[in-house]
Amino acid sequence: MKDESVDLVYLDPPFNSQKNYNMLFKDKTGKRAAAQIKTFKDTWGWDEGAERAYVETVEAGGTVAETLVAFRSFLKQKDMMAYLSMMAPRLVELRRAMKPTASLFLHCDPTASHYLKVLLDAVFGAGNFVNEIAWCYDTGGRSKTYFPRKHDTIFWYSKTCKGFAFHYDQVAIARDPSTMHESVLTDEMGRSYQRNMKNGREYRYYLDKGVLPNDWWTDIPALNPAAKERLDYPTQKPVALLERIINSVTLRGEIVLDPFCGCGTSVDAAQKLGRTWIGIDITALSIDVITRRLSDGYGADISRSYRLVGEPTTVQEAEALAKNNKYQFQFWAIRRVGASPASGTEKKGADGGIDGRKFFHDGLGGVIKQIILSVKGGKLKMDDVRSLAYVVEREKAVIGVLISSGEPTPTMRADAAAAGFYTATSGEKYPRIQLLSVGQLLNDPPARIEYPHALDVTHERAPRVLLPSAEQTSLM
Ligand SMILES: C[S@@+](CC[C@H](N)C(=O)[O-])C[C@H]1O[C@@H](n2cnc3c(N)ncnc32)[C@H](O)[C@@H]1O
Repeated sequence: MKDESVDLVYLDPPFNSQKNYNMLFKDKTGKRAAAQIKTFKDTWGWDEGAERAYVETVEAGGTVAETLVAFRSFLKQKDMMAYLSMMAPRLVELRRAMKPTASLFLHCDPTASHYLKVLLDAVFGAGNFVNEIAWCYDTGGRSKTYFPRKHDTIFWYSKTCKGFAFHYDQVAIARDPSTMHESVLTDEMGRSYQRNMKNGREYRYYLDKGVLPNDWWTDIPALNPAAKERLDYPTQKPVALLERIINSVTLRGEIVLDPFCGCGTSVDAAQKLGRTWIGIDITALSIDVITRRLSDGYGADISRSYRLVGEPTTVQEAEALAKNNKYQFQFWAIRRVGASPASGTEKKGADGGIDGRKFFHDGLGGVIKQIILSVKGGKLKMDDVRSLAYVVEREKAVIGVLISSGEPTPTMRADAAAAGFYTATSGEKYPRIQLLSVGQLLNDPPARIEYPHALDVTHERAPRVLLPSAEQTSLM
């Protein structure tokens, strides 16, 4: 990223809560399934990556280095130290990418907020601290042994303490005068205002312009299980929260960066408000959820207005991904054909052959049928096709799809053909075993699974957003 190029950084990094977050996919009835796939790991441990991040930051010198060294003197090699070592160089880079008028909002909770504020002071300078916002909610379980922990902390730092952008008019809210402590006065024109005396000067706050919310926000509820915007992505934040943050410090067309964008709440809010956005996440799942969220919310054409960086675009890149991270590769391939990934337990089953499933209705109101998917990153083995045919039979599925990074041999194609056809209620025939290579998935248009016209019952849909706007954007 270029220096001084973004107007707002919002980040909601994993909190060191020592949890693994899982995402639910829908089962064949369209309900949330017990089957989950691991979304991201929120568990940090002292490993080579942590040591490397620590050493590189310390060697760069300066206040951030001194702060990390101080942390290490008492945290030793605890998980918290690994987390802070990961955060430090990222915050330094984020600050570099911010324009002089830009702000950073770091969303966290009491697990690490005390350390993160010290770290932010080191990166930005304590003078650039603007607000510590308590976002209060009342959802989830309630402790009976201590006061329920029902707020997150959002630290706001500006890049420079003078001249940072703030747009009062975009975030002021109407306030009920009966709840005000200060008296309400009327000016010569008959308009109501409140006044604040500073160094002998009078400042007037006109009530028709609304007032700013305090630094504790109780008017934006967390997403409850029935919330329409819920996408089943763990830790998903409400769009209204991001709208307030984006509106407070940016104008239309300005650039919002979220380097831990999850299911893309900031991306969605930025799109809705006509901002240009850049979202980054380490998991293919997150990027997949966001692309669907955007097309469900703004129409399929939206995909032309942003660029997706980091997904394989050539067979070589797909092979490299398969080598580096087998699961990310499988996930990418499965989602490329619109199926949903199998849960961890299914993958570990005796045959190990089920990497994904897809459900479809055979005709409107028809019975739900199943497609089983298997993905092979390395070389295909002779019996891969036959094993898949066996699993399809056993699972009472109607079609099996084998996705491979290499091209199948003629014998494999013959084995696949020997499995015959599935005859749909319409009378049309679809090959029971279908072989798709990564090269075919990357073709334009990409190869697809052949199956009867489907009503997709695989994932949560984001509600349609009524204010479409096409800005040039980027997802990494
Ligand atoms: C708390 S979630 C963000 C949720 C998001 N605010 C939303 O509303 O959907 C944190 C995200 O950080 C991602 N993540 C974890 N480590 C990362 C890294 N090193 N780089 C980029 N993203 C990372 C995880 O995959 C996860 O999606």
